[in-house]
Amino acid sequence: MGKPVVIGLAGLGTVGQGLVRILAENADWIRRRIGHDILLKRAVVRDLNKPRGVELPEGTVVSDRLMDLVEDPEIEVVCELMGGLSAAEELMRAALAAGKHVVTANKHLLAERGQELFALAGERERCLYYEASCVGGVPVVQALKESLAGNRIVKLTGIMNGTANFILSEMTSNGLDFETALAEAQALGYAEADPSFDIDGIDTAHKLVLLARLAYGQHYPLSELPVRGIRDVSREDIAFAREFGYRLKLIGQVREVDGRLEAGVFPALVKYTFLLARVGGNYNAVRIEGNAVGPIMLHGQGAGDLPTASAVLADIMAIARDARKPNNTGFPENPLPAAPILPPEDAESQYYFRFRVADRPGVMAAITRVMADRDISIAQAIQKGEEGASDVSLVIITHEAPARMVHDALATIDAMDFVTAPTVNYRIL
Ligand code: NAP
Ligand code: HSE
Repeated sequence: MGKPVVIGLAGLGTVGQGLVRILAENADWIRRRIGHDILLKRAVVRDLNKPRGVELPEGTVVSDRLMDLVEDPEIEVVCELMGGLSAAEELMRAALAAGKHVVTANKHLLAERGQELFALAGERERCLYYEASCVGGVPVVQALKESLAGNRIVKLTGIMNGTANFILSEMTSNGLDFETALAEAQALGYAEADPSFDIDGIDTAHKLVLLARLAYGQHYPLSELPVRGIRDVSREDIAFAREFGYRLKLIGQVREVDGRLEAGVFPALVKYTFLLARVGGNYNAVRIEGNAVGPIMLHGQGAGDLPTASAVLADIMAIARDARKPNNTGFPENPLPAAPILPPEDAESQYYFRFRVADRPGVMAAITRVMADRDISIAQAIQKGEEGASDVSLVIITHEAPARMVHDALATIDAMDFVTAPTVNYRIL
């Protein structure tokens, strides 16, 4: 048996503790797979007095100084499981500069600073691996980098945030309100330190930037990605969506349209017959369509201690194999070129509109006229009268239309005197 792979761990929170647990539980199996033990030599935390829910291996040194990991010449792999930007970036840069490999679950940092960090790792010929940062335990990074490498990716569509999916599933299936469902997701360890990242679509955006890079070998800047979250989703829209045969999901999507990338994060109505609509709870799924393989689905837990640690451990084991020939982005260029971007207003989609309008003659005619003038064609409609109410919800499902026409039509309609509340709109997959 070869000598142990010596690792240092920054962070003993949800994911760090999951890693410690799985390293102990699967030690024999890991040895059999890679022919080495994995030895946790050091762990670094912020608060040395905080009780930890796991027992560390005998001899592991715990400190509160990140550079202890970098300065220890025996440590070959630094696992960054802290989150956040500046301390994590400083640690990764120092570790790569010191000739160590890095494993991280930090999608936020890689989405913001990935170009520079992958360039540094490339120059130093070190692994910078990040399976856990994209959809937790679901092995989508490796799938895009290796297994699907021969395909041109036509489209990648995913439910990539466990917290948001948990909230929407609880609102849909158990009638929970938004706040209660979010509190449950936080208690279960799914949510980010700042849960607005989960519910405002930002965490999905981070993952999408990384997946777009892996799928297309191009850099789509986070600052240019259109992002909309689920904060405003109401039980009324969930109920209307259900009547039309759809479920509301937070989607991240990137596809190639005439040589340009169209990407975005948005809540969308997904037909209940689609596999993506069946993805419930904290589960995530990514549907990848390749020009040779056709569509495939990867489905599993995108958050939580052990599922995420499973991906971290896979990266450490891959480094034991790939140390001399890192494959960080799946492409030899370093840095990767900028993506040609399709302006979001040119993106075409079907839409769901819920108008809140006065219940009087001519309203439907006025709305449909505005839509017809912009070439937006109606596929289905429902109006539901409410006992004693002077206004009603009017729901329209459209055929495909460009976002620019839809936004113009809604701005025109919302300025009309019969509209009693801003119109709700969602894309439909
Ligand atoms: P967490 O529970 O908040 O744990 C963070 C850990 O990092 C804590 O042990 C904390 O120390 C330590 N830490 C933070 N800043 C530090 C600093 N400056 N120096 C030393 N230690 C520091 O976070 P988590 O949920 O495990 O997430 C960790 C990373 O994994 C994040 O990037 C997150 O986005 C990513 N991720 C999480 C999940 C998930 O399901 N939770 C899934 C996929 C990816 P103290 O304990 O002493 O405060
Ligand atoms: N907060 C994230 C989620 C963790 O809920 O999916 C996994 O990246």
